[in-house]
Amino acid sequence: MKFEYAPAPESTSIVNIKPSYDLFIDGKFVASKTGRKFETINPATEAVLAEITEASDADVDAAVKAARSAFKSWSKLPGTERAKYIYRIARIIQDRAREIAVLETLNNGKPIRESRDVDIPLVAAHFFHYAGWADKLEYAGMGPAPTPHGVVGQIIPWNFPMLMLAWKIAPALAAGNTVVLKPAETTSLTALLFAEICQQAELPDGVVNIVTGAGNTGRAIVNHPDINKIAFTGSTEVGRMIAQAAAGTNKKLTLELGGKAANIVFDDAPIAQTVEGIVNGIFFNQGHVCCAGSRLLVQESIHDELMALLYQRLDLLRVGDPLDKNTDVGAINSAAQLAKINELAASGDAEGAHRWSASCALPATGFWFPPTVFTNVSQAHRIAREEIFGPVLSVLTFRTPDEAIAKANNTPYGLSAGIWTEKGSRILEVASKLRAGVVWANTFNKFDPTSPFGGYKESGYGREGGRHGLEAYLVASKHD
Ligand code: NAI
Ligand code: MG
Repeated sequence: MKFEYAPAPESTSIVNIKPSYDLFIDGKFVASKTGRKFETINPATEAVLAEITEASDADVDAAVKAARSAFKSWSKLPGTERAKYIYRIARIIQDRAREIAVLETLNNGKPIRESRDVDIPLVAAHFFHYAGWADKLEYAGMGPAPTPHGVVGQIIPWNFPMLMLAWKIAPALAAGNTVVLKPAETTSLTALLFAEICQQAELPDGVVNIVTGAGNTGRAIVNHPDINKIAFTGSTEVGRMIAQAAAGTNKKLTLELGGKAANIVFDDAPIAQTVEGIVNGIFFNQGHVCCAGSRLLVQESIHDELMALLYQRLDLLRVGDPLDKNTDVGAINSAAQLAKINELAASGDAEGAHRWSASCALPATGFWFPPTVFTNVSQAHRIAREEIFGPVLSVLTFRTPDEAIAKANNTPYGLSAGIWTEKGSRILEVASKLRAGVVWANTFNKFDPTSPFGGYKESGYGREGGRHGLEAYLVASKHD
């Protein structure tokens, strides 16, 4: 029996998108000194949503100056006072949650179900969590009187625009730093809404500055001489360039880069639950997830049974209008990202893997890719080694736990991993041997503001979230 779903679109009347946006510097929206603008679109329809400013070197310099000036008083406020502002921001985010979720879905293409139920609640949770830390910095593990770095430059990607902003700004402010943040060029609108929220919270001018733009604006932040710390989330390629630029300077650096996570299924795994976990691992957020479970390692004896159930399940996924409350998989974020996914999938065909795609109809406009699975994948294939960052799963098999661990660790990355088994002892044994920052057991893609997140090897360095995430924003106090 096939179920039909009537459309259940979320209304967009709650968002008020301006035709054109300036930069947010020193508590005010100000025009760029050079005046260059570019369009931002809805990737599900290709409709233009607004014009965004491309910040120049001079604009970045003005933002850094504002942050430097604000740092003097912000860093001297008692932690309890900084906490009040951060709590206020958290409560405004909860109050305006639906508006933020709709705007995020319009600009990013992710399903409203996810922006409403996952991204934005987690954004508020991060601000609440770090508000609680602001007057307890002596317990952050950095000595009795840790101090902030100063002005922090933060560059974030497009896959979780508002959530990555929260991961970066909340701990930075709690620790007493001031911020110059650049959202990704395809998804700037929620960061600009966040600027309005800073005004609404009466955050002191210059504590948070939002400069929009692409790589050149990011480079201007990285190379600015008066920035004390850089936090970056994005591609390994750009992360490498930033590490080179920061080397030999006094700038502190944390990098959160790509991944190619192994999701390991043993023959005793609870199979229905595992199928749901695999789907959540790679099709959540269209697979635009650095910790996505993109390499499925299945014990050979259950491969055929598991794959049959997985194909059945994937054929039920609803792909399409991200604003429809029934949609499971939304739009690919950009034409460039879709081209990258197509190129890597074609390499899978050419190298001899077998492609299966869900039999869903795709909308005629916008950027779309059906949920796709490659079997007969070998470790040498590009689709087993490179981050696809899309709704594409590569399936490999193993016979013994040792083989699973060896294959899981055979990657230049090490951000996350998953283990599916009934045996607690096996979970502990395998987890201890996986070279990955986060290991999920019988679940996947679960996030919590109290839990540290970060990678090994080419996945980057530094941790975000929880007490560990504060360390990156503090200088340890010297013991006498
Ligand atoms: P990207 O690394 O170019 O973009 C991330 C951020 O860095 C954006 O804000 C961008 O404007 C900025 N940026 C770009 N060039 C810069 C430079 N030279 N200096 C300073 N900042 C710069 O990522 P892109 O091109 O959007 O995606 C390419 C691939 O990277 C994806 O296909 C995916 O595999 C991976 N990626 C990983 C992410 C993660 O969360 N780990 C997030 C986004 C992309
Ligand atoms: Mg790039």
